[in-house]
Amino acid sequence: MAYDTIILGAGAAGLFCAARAGQRGKRILVLEKAPTPGRKILISGGGRCNFTNIGAGPANYLSANPHFAKSALSRYTPRDFLDLVESYGIAWHEKTLGQLFCDQSARQIVAMLLEECDKAKEAGGHVEVMCDQHVTAVEQADGSFLVRANGALHGAHSLVIATGGPSIPKMGATGYAYDLARQFGLKVVEPRPALVPLTLGGDDVLFRDISGVSAEVVASSGKTAFREAALFTHRGLSGPSILQISSYWQSGKTVAINFLPDRAEGWLLDAKRANPRSNLKSVLKDALPDRLAAILAEKLSVTVELGNAPDKTLRAAEAKLARWEFLPNGSEGFAKAEVTAGGIDTGELSSKTMEAKKVPRLYAIGEAVDVTGWLGGYNFQWAWASAAAAAADL
Ligand code: FDA
Repeated sequence: MAYDTIILGAGAAGLFCAARAGQRGKRILVLEKAPTPGRKILISGGGRCNFTNIGAGPANYLSANPHFAKSALSRYTPRDFLDLVESYGIAWHEKTLGQLFCDQSARQIVAMLLEECDKAKEAGGHVEVMCDQHVTAVEQADGSFLVRANGALHGAHSLVIATGGPSIPKMGATGYAYDLARQFGLKVVEPRPALVPLTLGGDDVLFRDISGVSAEVVASSGKTAFREAALFTHRGLSGPSILQISSYWQSGKTVAINFLPDRAEGWLLDAKRANPRSNLKSVLKDALPDRLAAILAEKLSVTVELGNAPDKTLRAAEAKLARWEFLPNGSEGFAKAEVTAGGIDTGELSSKTMEAKKVPRLYAIGEAVDVTGWLGGYNFQWAWASAAAAAADL
């Protein structure tokens, strides 16, 4: 069969793009390296797929060009995807902070996307998804793209790069999108692990003793801050607030944690006046898990009763608790990163269509592009929105 478009990658963006273009009557071939489509969708959200965030907007994304995502995000919204989910009768719930999950299983989202691909037939289009494909060459000749996979040669007028980023390589994730982009002369913003646990060493090593303990904190790096849970691990720091801030953290910089974001300034002096026989450990236990309270009190070296501690010492302890600086010595890398920040330079692409400016009919969508969402359904929303933008132009 002759195809209008070849899409490389049957993940969230690739499948959705295929379905939308197929439903416009286009003949689409999707070539996927893995044995089955949508594998990251299946493991996402702990198997329940946090398929969008109802509040998703450009401010929830990192990119060298913060304006790039605006157009696609505004033309295919979280409500649009939710309407699709509801039209399939898939039950969902909001977990927290606008994060929408399937009640049952992420498998429902993959099944929905494949059924959407099948619907292409109703519009005179066609979507064929071929898995276990080993793409060995991609070329452009005489106005067509030629893709060699598993020894066969496929041709189409346009090509969509939807092969994602290299996070979680043990699932088969690759940096192939960047190789291909470079082959066509497109720049790539240095990829780096994002939404990833941070590792600690040196003085912070003591916190390993409380591996498994979590608390709601405000984690900040530079001017960016997230209020969510932080989790101490045997290697360092994790939990939603840390994953979020990891996307903004730069090697050599600190991450500050406010352990008591609800306490007003002066609370420790107030505690001293109200309860002079208590000690720091016990007042911290009122607000924090016991083991965390104990280690913080130990590290602050305030062991005497509050009534016997100088105000100056307590003010310093309070300030430190509000801004405890950790100096991560690294992150757990692509092996544990939920997404990849960086990617195909947005300056190379049209923000309306995702088409490469200097290579007509070549498109890039999803995580392969230098647009990275926060934790909480934002990355899938970018996959859907960028896929819809490209599909409308194919
Ligand atoms: P995606 O990775 O989905 O698809 C790329 C496809 O290309 C894959 O099927 C891959 O096998 C294929 N491929 C790679 N190289 C190829 C090659 N050379 N030839 C052919 N095919 C190739 N986001 C979110 O919003 N909510 C959530 O709940 C989660 N949860 C989550 C959990 C975990 C553990 C991870 C690792 C990630 C998440 N994410 C998430 C992030 C989300 O999964 C991710 O941003 C999207 O899947 C990106 O969609 P893409 O289609 O761009 O890439």
